[in-house]
Amino acid sequence: MSRPRIYVTRRIPEPGLDLLRQAAEVDMNPGDAPLPRAELLARVADCEGVLGLLTERIDAEFFDAAPRLRGYANYAVGFDNIDVPEATRRRIPVSNTPDVLTDATAECAWALLFAVARRVVEGDGVMRSGAWSGWGPLQFLGAGVTGKTLGIVGAGRIGSAMALMSRGFRMPVVYTTGSGRPSEVLDRELGAELVSFDELLRRSDFISVHAPLNEGTRHLFDAEAFARMKPSAILVNTGRGPVIDEAALVDALRERRIAGAGLDVYEREPAMAPGLGKLDNAVVLPHVGSGTRESRTDMATLAARNLLAMLDGKRPETCLNPELYA
Ligand code: GLV
Ligand code: GLV
Repeated sequence: MSRPRIYVTRRIPEPGLDLLRQAAEVDMNPGDAPLPRAELLARVADCEGVLGLLTERIDAEFFDAAPRLRGYANYAVGFDNIDVPEATRRRIPVSNTPDVLTDATAECAWALLFAVARRVVEGDGVMRSGAWSGWGPLQFLGAGVTGKTLGIVGAGRIGSAMALMSRGFRMPVVYTTGSGRPSEVLDRELGAELVSFDELLRRSDFISVHAPLNEGTRHLFDAEAFARMKPSAILVNTGRGPVIDEAALVDALRERRIAGAGLDVYEREPAMAPGLGKLDNAVVLPHVGSGTRESRTDMATLAARNLLAMLDGKRPETCLNPELYA
């Protein structure tokens, strides 16, 4: 039997490519930039499998361009870039990379939380510029974290991991879940409280966003939500940018209606809302939540195993339309 043809839309860590090459003919976008849409569509025309990124739309147009496709593996846990119902309708299995990036992304949320609370980037800037005049009792005062209330919006895998990491800081934890059902682990381990979104906004000193992007969460954080938060509150987002109305966030930060924000994701990546990059009370990262060497390698091997399983007619480990294998 001839080996299947696989296209990888951008270079991923080598161990994933090695796995693919053992079982398939692998072609890859050799550059370190996304392919223009037309070129991507041309590249996948004769492929049975594609391993792709969250920056690519995997939709009817994509599937039309790849008539031989028998599997698509997303190199991401988020899958708002994939039209899963359309894939299922065409009986094409699709997968994502959960679990292997949970701790990395939760750690990134903490990095942002502390960076904003203790004004790490501002302070670093003063040191580097040579402008520091020496120690002072009132310089660069930040917000304490220990004992403050942590609000988790979307206590799934990553949100729960972020919450569990708060144990050392003895934080009361409130949370929401997509299902509205309580989280057993958070209740047991932290005595956390499932609350309404409104109550979470009112009670939290720090809010960390982990909800997936869907029609129910788009612009969940808008001007009205910021108005209900404490003026001392800090908002962190390592999930998906469009969950926050970014222009409204810039206004809220500029007018100090909330104290600060730490962002890893944006509404229109790679762009930021005008003014965001000028605010001292925002810390902005270039979508690196899963970006540890460990996680990115594990994502590569998981995505590769998923894709090879699909091409083998087997259910992948982390399938987004498992009903195809029922
Ligand atoms: C990153 O944003 C991911 O969804 O893995
Ligand atoms: C600060 O450096 C202190 O010793 O209080």
